[in-house]
Amino acid sequence: MSSPSRGGAFDSAVDKRVERFTESISFDQRLYHHDIAGSVAHAQMLADQDILTPEELSQIEQSLAEILQELENGTFPVRQELEDIHMNIEQALIDRIGDTGRKLHTGRSRNDQVSTDLRLWVRDAIDRVDGLLEALQQSFVGRCDRDADVIVPAYTHLQRAQPVLAPHVWLAYCEKFQRDRGRLTDARKRLNLCSLGTAALAGTTLPIDRDNVARRLGFDGIVANSIDSSSDRDFVLETVFCLTNIAIHLSSWAEEWILWSTSEFDFIKLPHAFCTGSSIMPQKINPDVLELTRGKSARVVGSLQTLLVLTKGLPLAYNRDLQEDKPPLFDAFDTVEACLELAAPLVAQSELNRASIESRLDRGFLDATTLMEFLIKRGMPQRKAHHLIGELVRTATEKSLKLSELPLEDFQASDPDLDDSVYDVLGVENAVNAFQSVGSTAPAQVLGQVAAWKKRLNL
Ligand code: ARG
Repeated sequence: MSSPSRGGAFDSAVDKRVERFTESISFDQRLYHHDIAGSVAHAQMLADQDILTPEELSQIEQSLAEILQELENGTFPVRQELEDIHMNIEQALIDRIGDTGRKLHTGRSRNDQVSTDLRLWVRDAIDRVDGLLEALQQSFVGRCDRDADVIVPAYTHLQRAQPVLAPHVWLAYCEKFQRDRGRLTDARKRLNLCSLGTAALAGTTLPIDRDNVARRLGFDGIVANSIDSSSDRDFVLETVFCLTNIAIHLSSWAEEWILWSTSEFDFIKLPHAFCTGSSIMPQKINPDVLELTRGKSARVVGSLQTLLVLTKGLPLAYNRDLQEDKPPLFDAFDTVEACLELAAPLVAQSELNRASIESRLDRGFLDATTLMEFLIKRGMPQRKAHHLIGELVRTATEKSLKLSELPLEDFQASDPDLDDSVYDVLGVENAVNAFQSVGSTAPAQVLGQVAAWKKRLNL
């Protein structure tokens, strides 16, 4: 007998070229652990339903445990002609225990088997990424005390805008990654349903117990419709979208820190263990990890694109095209996990170049908006205040002065009622201290949020 999937209907062996073209073992081998877990649960349910005898079950369990061992230590002989990991494991079982092994696939199809294995694999992978995201958040929050007194310019349009506390910036990243974690949690909830038992597409005439299998595998319930189940890859698409969003967040963080690490900005010193040199320019210390984090986001976006196009034209139910979901899914996880593994220590070990940041904080009129709001608080309409401060900025630029260095007469030219108190909101430190609104960079707000994040992350 050849492969268990090639029954008696064929009049010839499969063409070798077709075998090579259709195999998926080269990339689905990594499902082995979850495939065996799924098979054990399925066999246990079959025994509970008196479809297998207790002896048959224990033979199957024992043999699958041996196969798992061999797969784990790399001694399992993988055969391409058996197409995928599912057939390889089943054939190995049959080779060892004969007809008892041939009973394992009772009431099951590879369609529901692949779907269940994949749900189990994605569930674990989501948990890994969630842990990595948490570690990255811990790195950002972990540096908030150290950087508590550092004021940095914040930008819009990459032009200097307003002064903010460095921890306010770190927490901005924490919020983004928290939303990413929330999205993954949602995706996990939706995919955590058992598809095993939906068989090929219509279900089975055999007296199986789907809830039994679902419980054994830690699912929250079962997929309701067998045709839906056989064709569904939403959970792969949704998960990879979540990964894409993470990759994009990582990419824009990387871009920002690449800029910050240039001599032009000189805001941050990256740990040299995370930088590489140049083969010709001896002075170069390059931010390659950040550049590749930015670059690798392209692969994740590409994976999402592949999956969207892969599934868009498929009729119900299972189609072989679905085999092609695995390379982009695995690559998206591998890429995001690799980036996150480096991001956390890189964030923790980088150092702000305090002196350099501070020496140029007086550039760009970072206190102009605070001054405008000072006038508004004294009763001036916003549009008028905006215009007057614009004129003052022009005057200061012409005189090569900061706003805080302008003589009182210049302020009084804008508003004759102004007195010395105007200087209380000028300069970046005064400007930062003047903030009040919830969620702003006001020191009390930032301190409160740092405390909340520490609690949330058990720091
Ligand atoms: N290797 C295939 C996959 O991963 C197995 C699916 C088998 N189902 C089928 N109807 N041929 O999708």
